[in-house]
Amino acid sequence: MSIVSARDMLFEATEGKYAVGAFNITSLVQMEAVVDAALETKSPVIIQTSVKPSQFYKPGVMVAIYHTLAETAPVPIALHLDHCTDVAYCKTCADAGYTNIMIDASKQPFDENIRQTKEVADYCHKLSGVSVEGELGTVSGVEDQVKVAEDEAQLANPEQAVKFVERTGVDLFAPAIGTAHGVYKTKEPKVHFDRLEKIHQILNGDGVRVPLVVHGGTGLPPDYVERLIAVGGSKFNVSTELKYTLIDTTFDYIGGKREEYDPGKIDAAVRDATRKVVIHWMEMLKSPGKA
Ligand code: 13P
Repeated sequence: MSIVSARDMLFEATEGKYAVGAFNITSLVQMEAVVDAALETKSPVIIQTSVKPSQFYKPGVMVAIYHTLAETAPVPIALHLDHCTDVAYCKTCADAGYTNIMIDASKQPFDENIRQTKEVADYCHKLSGVSVEGELGTVSGVEDQVKVAEDEAQLANPEQAVKFVERTGVDLFAPAIGTAHGVYKTKEPKVHFDRLEKIHQILNGDGVRVPLVVHGGTGLPPDYVERLIAVGGSKFNVSTELKYTLIDTTFDYIGGKREEYDPGKIDAAVRDATRKVVIHWMEMLKSPGKA
């Protein structure tokens, strides 16, 4: 039960009006911290890697660590490949055992986005237990290999959203609604709640067909998160906050103990700090107790 695709847990979240945290990690220590938080709060959870860390460790190693940590866990845990722009690498990771794949062809023209997304969805659906996320519109900021300037970012069009979902057969849908990757430059980012609500009504108004994903979690004010869940968001992606936690905690630890030379203690500090950040997110998303 613990090795699962993201699809089923997100259907349950959408129906139950809570959301599941999807946390981008680059190291084993962070992966352990995410699992620690899920166990402590009894939350379903999604571990994510973008393409670079997946290539650095190799997909098979990522999957082996995921299996070791998740196999015996009494909570559902999915392993997701985030923002992959390369169809062939999406297939490689699905074959290796990632349980959820995001093909990000959102920078391509609409028809080409559909073509690539459908190719990945068709491929993954032949493997058992692998679901697929697609994106429409573009999210500004930088996430690994995907970089979109603020003035290039484009909201998802609701009519196109229906066509996209129907033609591609994606399991999870990420419409661009004004959230951004990285740190928001303002305390009140311009997020289009009404756009998500409209897309949610059209797609899921007569029963859940495709759970909706919110990118750019870092820095969203808690009341925004609450509103986004209320209008249909069921997967929240959080990356930058975990990167900052890892680097700041390491820096602070070493700064205070420059003569120690005990890497295990740095790992323990990072694991604990990351666990706390993830638990805070899980509480905002109302996922504790839902596993
Ligand atoms: P942040 O880096 O803003 O948290 O966004 C993460 C994300 O959306 C990854 O897909």
